[in-house]
Amino acid sequence: MRAVRFHETGGPEVLAVEDVPRPEPRADEVLIETRAAGVNPTEIYSRTGDRQHPLPRIPGADVAGVVTDVGDVVDGFDVGDRVFATALQNDRQGSYAEYVPARTDRVAHLPDPVSFETGAAAGVVTTTAWLAFVEHARVTANTTCLVHGGSGGVGHVAVQLAKEMGATVVSTAGSPETRTFARECGADGVLDYSRPDLEASVRDSVDGDGVDVVLDHRVGDYLQFDLDVLAAGGTVLVIGNPQDECHISDLWPAIRTDATIQVFAMSNAPDLSAVLDEVAPLLADGRLDVHVERRYDFEEAGEAQRAIVEDSFPGKAILVP
Ligand SMILES: NC(=O)c1ccc[n+]([C@@H]2O[C@H](COP(=O)([O-])OP(=O)(O)OC[C@H]3O[C@@H](n4cnc5c(N)ncnc54)[C@H](OP(=O)(O)O)[C@@H]3O)[C@@H](O)[C@H]2O)c1
Repeated sequence: MRAVRFHETGGPEVLAVEDVPRPEPRADEVLIETRAAGVNPTEIYSRTGDRQHPLPRIPGADVAGVVTDVGDVVDGFDVGDRVFATALQNDRQGSYAEYVPARTDRVAHLPDPVSFETGAAAGVVTTTAWLAFVEHARVTANTTCLVHGGSGGVGHVAVQLAKEMGATVVSTAGSPETRTFARECGADGVLDYSRPDLEASVRDSVDGDGVDVVLDHRVGDYLQFDLDVLAAGGTVLVIGNPQDECHISDLWPAIRTDATIQVFAMSNAPDLSAVLDEVAPLLADGRLDVHVERRYDFEEAGEAQRAIVEDSFPGKAILVP
């Protein structure tokens, strides 16, 4: 089969399309014929060596496609099923390949109305937003949320999910285009993240009070800011680049508010299949839209990874074999 691999860590140029043996599913896995694979920052940390993996390596966490083989103890999935899956590169090779093995606790059925492209884009970002607002912060209709970067992969889904839960959502974005997109995702207020009065503007957006929940994917830039804008009993949800250095120079805002700082990784969730099953009906009936802005073929995998780091665009990028 064709797969994107790298034999040494480095820049996007280390990614190359190669012919490799088609994997066999283990007893608790299905084999998925790839129709599209998502592109996420997490696989870039593997390519650059910030996350250590045996080499050579096929990157990629997300896939959508059709089941072509099932392991001996697999229950609930059959050959021919449309599926989407996530967190695939943790204990196995990843999803930038024509066939991808996936443990069934990371796979769910993809409803017929949902395209493979949407399914491939959905895995990491929808499960992250769900775990943030349902498992960790328990957002309700009375919650005020700040979502940094409300046009990005996680951000645009987080804005929509928080609105679906009835919350009031303030978000940020860097350009007129991405601010318009975050507004279209439902954010009640969208601010330019480079404005000098950002803290006061966030407070103004929630009638002068602080926010109950912050979703922060750039904790190196914002951890102190997050604590400064937090309401009493509030929670800062930390995702983001493991290389971020974060500092708290003034702990008083956190002490005053009994702040919670919750760091989490979606891939630690014990049953991602159950989370994908919660997300699937939202995708099917249009309550959640995972926007695919850019499509690349396997030969362009390096360019796709470069683009998600260096370019600003709304939503997600995917690879199509
Ligand atoms: N812990 C976990 O489980 C988990 C799960 C998923 C993702 N993550 C991490 O979360 C981060 C984001 O992932 P993603 O897929 O959403 O990335 P992405 O699609 O590339 O989105 C990046 C976002 O960052 C915004 N941004 C850029 N500069 C900013 C600034 N100075 N202040 C505020 N926002 C800024 C961008 O907005 P503009 O385009 O408007 O500049 C864009 O909305 C990554 O580090 C990823 O590894 C962690």
